[in-house]
Amino acid sequence: MEENKYKWVETGDWSVCYMEEIESTNDVAKNFAKCGNKDHTAIVANCQTAGRGRLGRSFLSERGSGIYMSLLLRPDILPVEASMMTLLAGLAVRKAVLELVGLDTQIKWPNDIVCGGRKLCGILTEMAAKPQGIEYVIVGIGLNVCQKHFQDELCKVATSLYMETGRMFERVEIIDKILKCFDEYFQIFLKTHDMSLLKDEYNMAMVNFGKEVCIHRADENYLAVAQGINTAGELLVEHKGVPEKVVSGEVSIRGVYGYV
Ligand code: BTN
Repeated sequence: MEENKYKWVETGDWSVCYMEEIESTNDVAKNFAKCGNKDHTAIVANCQTAGRGRLGRSFLSERGSGIYMSLLLRPDILPVEASMMTLLAGLAVRKAVLELVGLDTQIKWPNDIVCGGRKLCGILTEMAAKPQGIEYVIVGIGLNVCQKHFQDELCKVATSLYMETGRMFERVEIIDKILKCFDEYFQIFLKTHDMSLLKDEYNMAMVNFGKEVCIHRADENYLAVAQGINTAGELLVEHKGVPEKVVSGEVSIRGVYGYV
């Protein structure tokens, strides 16, 4: 790719690479990681032509409408701890939106931020590990900011900061705030290498805490009552009176009557 397609900006501990259009910032971040780029590099695109979500879904990334950003991290943590980076990113987005926009959002474990029952942000975490430990973690964040409406199947489940407030926001300010908040939560996480110190805050923000949810796995669907996360970041549920732990991997959680 030509050099003039990139613009690098330093903010706090982060080197942020702004791009106009790319297939997926997660893929660019992976390539950067393979080329040796350092920890705390963020890739931001104004538009993604092949934005990806969890479980093989796509993520609509219209030009100039949202924040499409991937964090390249090389944390000194165990591979089993990597999934908690999604939870830290969720807390960081929630805090940034609360403090900058004044909107009190909720978290749908493990990777969505919701407002008024609709999805405002999705997070896709990917990792490469070697026997010695983590090589890199990519935390991809897609936050709907300026969209005035959504079409087709997204119309009932998606929202944006504009749709919630009637106001437009400078995406760069939100990006800076998310990066700062992520660092704050990551420092807290590092004290225990788990969610011990953040579990209560996370559970208070969880949209389906105490509610019946439908758990979808490749081979089964069942109803259970969500009871918050444990210190490992797993979702605790009660299924037919029996407590169970749900690991984020290949599972999706839906409300009994719809998205939440
Ligand atoms: C989901 O909703 O399942 C996760 C969506 C994650 C979307 C973000 S946008 C920036 C980064 N690049 C991608 O291709 N995906 C993530």
